[in-house]
Amino acid sequence: MSTQGLDGTTVLVVGAGSGIGTAIAQAAAGAGARVVAASRRLDTAEQVAEIVGRGTAAVRLDLGDEESIIAAADVLGPVDHVVTVAADHANGPVTTLAAADIEEAFRAKVLGPLLLTKHFAPRMSPRGSFVLFSGYVSARPQGGLAVMATTNGAVDALVPALAVDIAPIRVVGISPGVVDSGSWDGLDDKSAFFDEVARTNPARRVGTPSDIGDAVVFALTNPFLTATTVHVDGGQRVA
Ligand SMILES: NC(=O)c1ccc[n+]([C@@H]2O[C@H](COP(=O)([O-])OP(=O)(O)OC[C@H]3O[C@@H](n4cnc5c(N)ncnc54)[C@H](OP(=O)(O)O)[C@@H]3O)[C@@H](O)[C@H]2O)c1
Repeated sequence: MSTQGLDGTTVLVVGAGSGIGTAIAQAAAGAGARVVAASRRLDTAEQVAEIVGRGTAAVRLDLGDEESIIAAADVLGPVDHVVTVAADHANGPVTTLAAADIEEAFRAKVLGPLLLTKHFAPRMSPRGSFVLFSGYVSARPQGGLAVMATTNGAVDALVPALAVDIAPIRVVGISPGVVDSGSWDGLDDKSAFFDEVARTNPARRVGTPSDIGDAVVFALTNPFLTATTVHVDGGQRVA
């Protein structure tokens, strides 16, 4: 595998319909990979595949449904790299949360990546890799984000554990800071929030999806990077 690019490789992106997921698909395709865009909805995956172009394929995959993971692994055959950005959000004071929502959040970030590894790793080359997504909230807990902090913290623990378990296949975590991915668009005061983030974090800016896409290509192509999480967060965890 070249450390310069992803020519000749296949990269599966789970959660490709999210702002960051689409940027990863674009960055990987730009680095020469054949990308497979996965979403819980096939039509979303197909839309992403059309946006990315360059022969990108689409597949339905729900991390909460092991049968859909098995079906995707059977249809795709061996892939070189698996990236999952999937996140389901159970935000709010813990006293108000439904158990089902908490379970969905753990399925997307913790159980799902374990099942992806179970079904994809046995078919992968030793030079392959998994990239899992954490987030700065694991290091900066806030009211109403206990589930997010816990699922991201679990990913931080899962990355080195999986790296040891499936070595020499590499496992890398990416922990974004605040990124204008579309997931903040529902905030009434999004622009004030982003101004405050940019005023207080060390990078003095909010992240872009392509900041994260570029970091994922680095993680996929550096053969000595494993068992660790890369904080692409503008320093948010120490802001
Ligand atoms: N944006 C930020 O500021 C920020 C900050 C820190 C960390 N992060 C992390 O970065 C990643 C991407 O963030 P984002 O803002 O682009 O996206 P996001 O809005 O958090 O959405 C992630 C995607 O996960 C997919 N998903 C949810 N449950 C799933 C399941 N059971 N199986 C498969 N896919 C599932 C959804 O895709 P479908 O509905 O199409 O299936 C959704 O588009 C997430 O892991 C997030 O926690 C983001």
